[in-house]
Amino acid sequence: MFSEEIIQKIKEENDIVDIVSEVVTLKKTGKNYLGRCPFHNEKTPSFTVSSEKQIYKCFGCGEAGNVISFVMKTRNMAFPEAVKLLGEKVGIVVDDADSPGKSSAANEKFKRMYNINIQAARYFYTNLKRFKAPYEYLKGRGITDETIKKFGIGFALDNWQGIRSYLKQRGFSEEEILELGLTTKNEKGNIYDRFRNRIIFPVFNVSGRVIGFGGRVLDDSKPKYLNSPETPIFHKGTNLYGLNLAIKNNPARTVIMVEGYMDVISLSQQGVTNVVATLGTALTEGQCKLLKRYIDTVIVSFDSDVAGENATIRGLEILQKSGFDLKILQIPSGKDPDEFIRSFGKEKFLNLVDGALPIIDFKLRMAEKGIDFSKQEMVIKYLKRVVNVLKDLDPLEKAVYIKQVSEKSGIGEEAIMESLDKNPNKSIQNNKNHNINRKFGQKLYLEPGFVRAERTVLSLALDKRLSDKIFSNVSEDDLILKAHKVIYTIIKENNMCSKEELIKIINLQTMQDSEFTKEWIKIQEYKVDIDEGSIDKMVSDCVNNIKKYKLEESRKKIMDKIRKCESEGLVEETLMLARELMDIQKEMGKL
Ligand code: CTP
Ligand code: MN
Repeated sequence: MFSEEIIQKIKEENDIVDIVSEVVTLKKTGKNYLGRCPFHNEKTPSFTVSSEKQIYKCFGCGEAGNVISFVMKTRNMAFPEAVKLLGEKVGIVVDDADSPGKSSAANEKFKRMYNINIQAARYFYTNLKRFKAPYEYLKGRGITDETIKKFGIGFALDNWQGIRSYLKQRGFSEEEILELGLTTKNEKGNIYDRFRNRIIFPVFNVSGRVIGFGGRVLDDSKPKYLNSPETPIFHKGTNLYGLNLAIKNNPARTVIMVEGYMDVISLSQQGVTNVVATLGTALTEGQCKLLKRYIDTVIVSFDSDVAGENATIRGLEILQKSGFDLKILQIPSGKDPDEFIRSFGKEKFLNLVDGALPIIDFKLRMAEKGIDFSKQEMVIKYLKRVVNVLKDLDPLEKAVYIKQVSEKSGIGEEAIMESLDKNPNKSIQNNKNHNINRKFGQKLYLEPGFVRAERTVLSLALDKRLSDKIFSNVSEDDLILKAHKVIYTIIKENNMCSKEELIKIINLQTMQDSEFTKEWIKIQEYKVDIDEGSIDKMVSDCVNNIKKYKLEESRKKIMDKIRKCESEGLVEETLMLARELMDIQKEMGKL
């Protein structure tokens, strides 16, 4: 595992305000920073970051943590991954004890690959400024200097030995350069630059490292685009162009998915920054999995000509299966997003985004394609398509859409309903359940009483004058929250340590789990007013509060069972349960 010192250093050198700012727009308010919580949907900011304490807390949903747990949660990473990522950011290399197979030689090799790509990107970027044609080309397409810089756009010379000799001079080997696809080898064994006389778009991964390149011709020659091949660091199926930028300041967790590099760049220049593109290949499950860490809603943008093509339909299915809220944005007048926004401006484009159709509406509209509603056999064909679209919806949604379809086709709602019933839905779950936990509402988050009671117990146990009293009255089994049990056990087991040492130990033993970290931070932040005279009452109140909660939970369970037994006519079982219920109520009465 990582050494304590390394973790401490990584925590110290990564300011939580910087790391949170990559995802949340923060405003300074007094000592703290305030922004919209990335863990739930809210309009008014209640997410607080303390630079002084290096922690965050949300008053809307109760989330809390430090810089490492923030990365774990927002990027859906395990502890070692998060530590590594934060280490990279500040130039601290951490040993990967989790994958002992990966030798440091292999690590070294990867580091060199990223380095070659950075050098190459710089070389291309410098070229762009030195040559008129590519620079003029970009200007002609409305691209500003600032955008060129932001996306690191460059130019590959019309030269067979440009990047090759440049990198070789810098001490990189023929094989390394070839492996990254910056050069290529012909049948005769000659090696030369892959990208020649092309505008170069570096492709960044989600942490902003250059992993590959796309190159576009300056005229109408073919192929229009040439991309780096798959390499040990460039995997087209698990990366998305623009994602590193699209996840910044994106509390709505929404992206627009477009087809081209130029679309991403052009929209971004106009201030629409939450845009990603695939890398010249069809959308994959791997890309969805990556995107799901940061994004809940995907607005898929189609150039009007391609909607309905198999590849796009397949892409939508993959997105839907991955649990995104999906919308379809169709760009009119045969334009792509870049052309549209340049012709009509940002506002018109945003209007299109607002009008994007939910996937079902879109599919229904597609079902109308080529249908002449005055012809009976066409109407039947249409309804067959409709049944296919609607069969997996839940009853409420079905009812709404059936009404629409009925109005469109002139066929009665009952008839449509009936043919839908013959195609029972197999997957009601399909598009439900996701994003539930981000819909907390805007209210202040109120914790159940027992959570606060447990927190009080833990705070008191940390107080050296009171710990013995707590230990003799409360066992970890009395506590409900797993994190509380764990922390309480650590406190008990390290009773001999000073408070400072104890806090250090708990820090260490909780840090790998973001839930434990969250509860530990909340305990430390919790202020208990201790009145020495009434400690006993305070403790017994807490214990009773927790007990009450447990009894209440068992009461609910038994009530459910009773209802079930009654409906099945199981008299004897019902009576037994009723007796259990009485016992519980008696217990509750004592508290
Ligand atoms: N693409 C590719 N290889 C090609 C053509 C296209 O890899 N021969 C990929 C590129 O990633 C490109 C995307 O498909 O960005 C969309 O292609 P297209 O719509 O033709 O290009 P645009 O992005 O619109 O480029 P431009 O506006 O520069 O013509
Ligand atoms: Mn285009």
